[in-house]
Amino acid sequence: MTENVKPTILVTDDDPKLRNILRDILELKNFHVLCAGDGVETFKLLKKNNVDVILLDLILPRKNGLEILKEIMVEKPRLPVIMISGQATVKMAVEATKMGAFDFLEKPLDANRVFITLKNALDKSALAHQLDALQKSGSNRYQMLGKSEVMKTVFEMIDSVAPTNGRVLITGESGTGKELVAHALHHFSSRSTKPLIKINCAAVQEELMESELFGHTRGSFTGAMENKEGVFQRAHNATLFLDEIGDMSYRMQAKVLRALEEGEIQRVGSEKIEKVDTRLITATNKDLLQKIQQGAFRKDLYYRLNVIKIHLPPLRERREDIPVLVDHFLLLFCTEYNLITKELTRDAMEVLMNYDWPGNIREVRNFIERLVIMTQAAIIHENDVKDQLYSFSMDEISIQSKLYKHAKEKFEKKFVLRALQENNWNIVQTAKQIGFDRTTLHRKMKGLGILRNENEWQ
Ligand SMILES: Nc1ncnc2c1ncn2[C@@H]1O[C@H](COP(=O)(O)OP(=O)(O)OP(=O)(O)O)[C@@H](O)[C@H]1O
Ligand SMILES: [Mg+2]
Repeated sequence: MTENVKPTILVTDDDPKLRNILRDILELKNFHVLCAGDGVETFKLLKKNNVDVILLDLILPRKNGLEILKEIMVEKPRLPVIMISGQATVKMAVEATKMGAFDFLEKPLDANRVFITLKNALDKSALAHQLDALQKSGSNRYQMLGKSEVMKTVFEMIDSVAPTNGRVLITGESGTGKELVAHALHHFSSRSTKPLIKINCAAVQEELMESELFGHTRGSFTGAMENKEGVFQRAHNATLFLDEIGDMSYRMQAKVLRALEEGEIQRVGSEKIEKVDTRLITATNKDLLQKIQQGAFRKDLYYRLNVIKIHLPPLRERREDIPVLVDHFLLLFCTEYNLITKELTRDAMEVLMNYDWPGNIREVRNFIERLVIMTQAAIIHENDVKDQLYSFSMDEISIQSKLYKHAKEKFEKKFVLRALQENNWNIVQTAKQIGFDRTTLHRKMKGLGILRNENEWQ
């Protein structure tokens, strides 16, 4: 939807009188209106036109509104759908909202309420369009945002280094985007038709590391039931990303060094030498030079890995990137959670720009997600931000939530959200961490209004 084009509204209702009234009043307000009497017509019109919002009756002949809604959510998940009905029960309204309806209007329709709801829905639709555009645009070419000089240099380096076979060592604190850079390097290389093979050196037990890297033959150790390839073989003619290389043991470092020097590897339990052509990208948040001094990292390996170094500075050293990231994540989460557009006041943004973000961009992302869920109003003020940013003291609880019930709910919501984020929204893992079973956690989340797209959950 652009500013000089009229927004297109599709009205689906089996009552021709109501369709005509809606058409008349909406056209007067400068909307372009399409009408359908049932599901079949609705989908025909949706195919042929760029519809911005749909007003959908609940009770319809043949397919009812909920069934149509379900199909729309599959085919056009970002299209805002406003349900309308005269006979809907609360249960139906809840059901529709859970399925992704933007709002629910009761008949007889009140013209003002219709306009307000349409306006909100159009905001959301514009937001979705913006997000699509942003994701396709050059500024987000690597799914990475940043306008600071240092980030521009990083982008230039990715551009020039990606197409080569050069080994790259990516350094930076936790949450600065090292994994994103590894993906970008692979994506813009000639090896991109093959997958990027990843292994996190800090997450694999020492005894299994050699087999994970180079594979093993059947029977080479207890538990080795079958022949197995390692990541080096799987990344043949592709890219291998060794994450957290600073946590690799000294013994394994020697083996990796040999693989790099000779281009040859040996499976555990095998005499056979295998040649592999692997492009290696490594990352660490550790200071490798310091580790070398401490005798914990091999100098020879360091020089082999560090052909090209890309360093991602912490966010506190490139504060001008903070607003770009904050706006991006606001847009992202408002769209994801089906919420109206939210904006920060200038003072609120200033608080965020002055904060040090020890968890870097991951922390910004998690923070904005919490902020979007926890604040109700469209404008987010300085106090809302402070309230979320600095874990709240008893003072804040007693000032803002006089009732014990409200304070408790506020705490619970924040606590559950944080636990979910720490566990990447893995319900089983989160439940275990906070001492709930899966269904209790699920129920709690519903009660607190932190239900995300359920299909995403493991
Ligand atoms: N420049 C950026 N623009 C947008 N999103 C970013 C940017 N940098 C990082 N992110 C996001 O921040 C989060 C953390 O990024 P990533 O996992 O790449 O960090 P990392 O440096 O590998 O962290 P760790 O050392 O903890 O593994 C991800 O959700 C990523 O999408
Ligand atoms: Mg990482």
